Amino acid sequence: MKNVLAIYPGSFDPVTNGHLDLIERGAKIFDRLIVSILRNFEKEPLFSLDERVDMLREVVRPWPNVEIDVFSGLLVDYARQREANVILRGIRAVSDYEYELQMAMMNRKLNQNLETVFMMPALSYSYLSSRLVREIARLGGSIAGLVPPVVEERMRDKVR
Ligand code: PNS
Repeated sequence: MKNVLAIYPGSFDPVTNGHLDLIERGAKIFDRLIVSILRNFEKEPLFSLDERVDMLREVVRPWPNVEIDVFSGLLVDYARQREANVILRGIRAVSDYEYELQMAMMNRKLNQNLETVFMMPALSYSYLSSRLVREIARLGGSIAGLVPPVVEERMRDKVR
């Protein structure tokens, strides 16, 4: 059997139950999974990088083969540096597919040895996104059941 190390990259601003669902699925089929947050200098995130790392560390505690990391620059360069063989991405609906396919193909062009693997979260999370969670919280709606409790708590402080 091969030792498969997968990277699950994203913004995770904040981590949602949809992300967690994917992490759980990934942790089951890959030997190791690195959930890695993009340090994006162009975007102003709601949660700082440190806050996102903290929240992710807390929620992945049940899976000993899952690690949290941060990356900047090209994903393929980071994957090479971490000696990863797989990029894990979630596809919720057909609308995600076009963008994800474009990224997967471009990443393949940049590094032929890296495979993108798509997984589908549970159907109940198919409409969930970090952007909507941020918007609902900002406008005073409930995000219970959409994000882990630690995120709900921290979100309360953010939008107060
Ligand atoms: O959760 P997101 O914001 O949709 O994640 C997008 C992410 C981080 C996977 C993507 O923007 C990325 O890989 N950025 C790193 C820069 C890079 O490699 N760009 C070329 C992609 S083909």
